[in-house]
Amino acid sequence: MSVFQTTIITSIKEETAGVKTFTVTYADDSAIPYEAGQFITFAFTHHGREERRSFSISSSPADSKLLYFTVKRVDNGAYSRLLVDRAKVGDHLQTTGAAGLFTLPTDMNAYKQVMFFAAGIGITPIFSLVKTILHTEPGKIVTLIYSNRSKEDVVFYHELNALAAVFSDRFKVVFLYSTAFDLKRARLSKELIPILLGEYVAVPKEQTLFYICGPFAYMRMAILALEEQGIHTDHIRKENFNTNDRQVKKAEPPDKASHTVTLIHSGQQYQFAVQYPETILQAAKKQGISLPYSCEVGRCGSCAARCTSGQVWLSYNEVLMDMDLKHGAILTCTGYPVGGDVVIEA
Ligand SMILES: Cc1cc2nc3c(=O)[nH]c(=O)nc-3n(C[C@H](O)[C@H](O)[C@H](O)COP(=O)(O)OP(=O)(O)OC[C@H]3O[C@@H](n4cnc5c(N)ncnc54)[C@H](O)[C@@H]3O)c2cc1C
Ligand code: FES
Repeated sequence: MSVFQTTIITSIKEETAGVKTFTVTYADDSAIPYEAGQFITFAFTHHGREERRSFSISSSPADSKLLYFTVKRVDNGAYSRLLVDRAKVGDHLQTTGAAGLFTLPTDMNAYKQVMFFAAGIGITPIFSLVKTILHTEPGKIVTLIYSNRSKEDVVFYHELNALAAVFSDRFKVVFLYSTAFDLKRARLSKELIPILLGEYVAVPKEQTLFYICGPFAYMRMAILALEEQGIHTDHIRKENFNTNDRQVKKAEPPDKASHTVTLIHSGQQYQFAVQYPETILQAAKKQGISLPYSCEVGRCGSCAARCTSGQVWLSYNEVLMDMDLKHGAILTCTGYPVGGDVVIEA
């Protein structure tokens, strides 16, 4: 059974220079299921090889029946250039569907405020989450700190200002421009974060949830600054777009013996042996099982699954938070069974 489904581009909108929004539906016109904050993964052939790229969904199921995603053209980028420069309404794209854990908690009652930090194209999943909270969580305070080079580079500038006008009692957007004259309010920095928290966080920090999406160094700085301000890591979620710009140094599992993996996927049960250096994903591929994946290096979360029995050890993980790991979440692309056999639901 193929893991791919065909989608059709039904509209294309230019947002800013080199940034376009694409609306897609399944070829049979049925809706593509997704949650706010998730991404959609597409497969394409590049130099004779199958490659995959993921794009965060910028629409919200709470305010639109349409699914759209927004792409920034990357110089020399294989797929972003294909989409931004050449894709037309009516084109078909092959997808493995929506996935990702940069979503809202199932129980939002514990939180009274959600603060978002976005930089550049990192706004896409955050735009979806902001709209979803404003439309479905009455009373929740929403704050967005959005960094760009200049006003001309701000994606969704008018839409964000319109939301701030409609939900003026509980949504505030702060635009930061790195080209601003006032250097204290230009780039987001370790010094600026406590100031912004003081200005905009209106409830105790235990009742505030933080979401961050932007370049790697931006996210690392923001997470460190928030932790220094006493924000617990369980209250901070991040989404990483950059899966291929740094070398990943993979560790070796503490147990390299062969163990049986029982995999439950799409209503079917499979059993196969996995032994280091082969990951669970690689072993599943060898069996002809089409599991979802994208980066294959533990950075995107496309391959996230749940271990319901036994133990899976991850050689690398940049996406699952402690909270996810506690609930059995694993990555098949960097996961190895250790200490015995395991059962995985994917
Ligand atoms: C979870 C997730 C969500 C994402 N959401 C979005 C989103 O909402 N919007 C968005 O625009 N992007 C998003 N991305 C990023 C997106 O998936 C792509 O990584 C991005 O579009 C670049 O892909 P590409 O094929 O155009 O570039 P690639 O071909 O992968 O190239 C990327 C970079 O590597 C360089 N490069 C490539 N090949 C070589 C080579 N042989 N030698 C030297 N340099 C090389 C290119 O110059 C380029 O700078 C997301 C990524 C993830 C993981
Ligand atoms: S495929 Fe990206 S984390 Fe596994």
